[in-house]
Amino acid sequence: MANIPRRRFLNNAGMAGLAVTANSWLGRVARAEADYRTTRVVIDPSRRIAAVDHRLFGSFLEHLGRAIYTGIYEPGSKFADSNGFRTDVMQEIRQLRVPIIRWPGGNFVSGYYWLDGVGPKKDRPQVLDRAWNTLETNEFGTNEFTNWCKQVGTEPLLGLNFGTGSAEMAAALVEYCNVDKGTKWSELRRQHGYEEPHRIKYWCLGNEMDGPWQIGHMAAVDYGRKAADAARQMRVIDPSLKLIACGSSGPFMPTYLEWDRQVLEECYNEVDAISLHRYYGNAEETGGDSSKYLAMNLAMDRQIEEVIAVCDMVRGLKRSNKQLWLSFDEWNVWYRARGGEAANGHRTKAPHLLEEVYNLEDALLVGGLINSLVRHSDRVRVACLAQLVNVIAPIMTNENGVLRQTIFYPYAWGLQHARGNALRVEPEGPTYEVGSLGRPIESGGRIMPALGHAPYLDVVATFDPATMTVALFVLNRDLEGQRELQIDWRDVLPTKVNSCEVLTGSNLKAVNTFDDPRRVTPQLLEVPKVGSRMTLQMPARSYTVLSLAM
Ligand code: AHR
Repeated sequence: MANIPRRRFLNNAGMAGLAVTANSWLGRVARAEADYRTTRVVIDPSRRIAAVDHRLFGSFLEHLGRAIYTGIYEPGSKFADSNGFRTDVMQEIRQLRVPIIRWPGGNFVSGYYWLDGVGPKKDRPQVLDRAWNTLETNEFGTNEFTNWCKQVGTEPLLGLNFGTGSAEMAAALVEYCNVDKGTKWSELRRQHGYEEPHRIKYWCLGNEMDGPWQIGHMAAVDYGRKAADAARQMRVIDPSLKLIACGSSGPFMPTYLEWDRQVLEECYNEVDAISLHRYYGNAEETGGDSSKYLAMNLAMDRQIEEVIAVCDMVRGLKRSNKQLWLSFDEWNVWYRARGGEAANGHRTKAPHLLEEVYNLEDALLVGGLINSLVRHSDRVRVACLAQLVNVIAPIMTNENGVLRQTIFYPYAWGLQHARGNALRVEPEGPTYEVGSLGRPIESGGRIMPALGHAPYLDVVATFDPATMTVALFVLNRDLEGQRELQIDWRDVLPTKVNSCEVLTGSNLKAVNTFDDPRRVTPQLLEVPKVGSRMTLQMPARSYTVLSLAM
């Protein structure tokens, strides 16, 4: 018997109809076999991490490529409304219920003069955007954006120019947007036809100011002082603002964390949050190994925890009562349409820039990244999938309509199902080793540390007391075989399965195109039987969302 491989022996035993009692030797082998493939979680509504701020599923629109022009705004299009807004795109975003959208950049904001984008359109200048070497017509500006946000039911998150822009002009924009009337800038807004203030609450104090590629790039201490100065002025205008300081552009930066510490030492008392950015790829860093790639959301976990550590250290140094929260306001997969021609607008209007085509494995990783955000929802309150339309985006447009890229689906599930409280589910199950990683794609980037033991199943859960619904989000990183998930319920029992959908397929490189738009789409998974212990088979290479009524 010792010569028969364990799996074949168990199959043979099953076929021979052997009676396997739980305590027999054979029973123990069978249990060990199951254990080897099983991940256990406990769902207990009292094990609450935090209430999930819905802004965790925000997104981002930059004046870059075709995100704004021909993306959300295209006056000549057959889909355009009287404002020039594309109604087909608005409908997608409205349906998704994106809670908050960051605008106007990104790198673009660091050279953006907001006054060029307000007032009568005929008087607005066409300018050269030096971030992406593109012609900016300024037809779409602050008032158009806030108007568009209202129509799609989202909240604006405004970026401020800390590159060529002064603290004074940043404060002026806050006054323009938020003061009712009777001051220079609020009266200008009213003159422009907007009597009511926009009441914008969330603001980013600059973008990636640590990066040498950034217009107006500066030293951490200088940025921190400017952020503190601008924040103080802005709070006089509107004390209710939520202000996000510009954190490090990511762990690839030589100044990673050191930048954050120095910045916060200058402006900790004046701000509410710090930003994080990260783009993932299956190239140099992973060596094209998809099993490493699907574990990259563990690098997001680590980045979040490292930035929290810095925030809390500065809090200690300052003897402050205030705890900062994190704004992960740029995250996505981005590694193909990245440098060179993909990033150079050649002084044209609405060029095709950063038009990344997403495949199945990218969507699975995006699912994993959503899991990482949910399990850190005690500190991450805002996060923005970068971006939303045409530029590294889940939604693409052409003259005939919209296309949902693969990453649309996990993002839509997060938006739809991650409601109420994130729960501590503490999965226990088999792992695989993700040893060394290579250099990140960013030039001169620092080598990333290994990820260690990556669980085959990455599981998070939310419980919404308002609707008595539990949602589980499960990434199966096993490229070859299905894996078992065992759910034990404590204090609540499911009464029925609302839905069980999965994104999977045999070809990790499969993509959706305008000619073949449904190649990668969710499928229904066999609905499991409800009970105090439930067992589900998660398909190989998959991301699943399971919603249950209690
Ligand atoms: O999202 C694309 C670019 O990536 C943004 O403009 C910049 O902030 C980041 O480097």
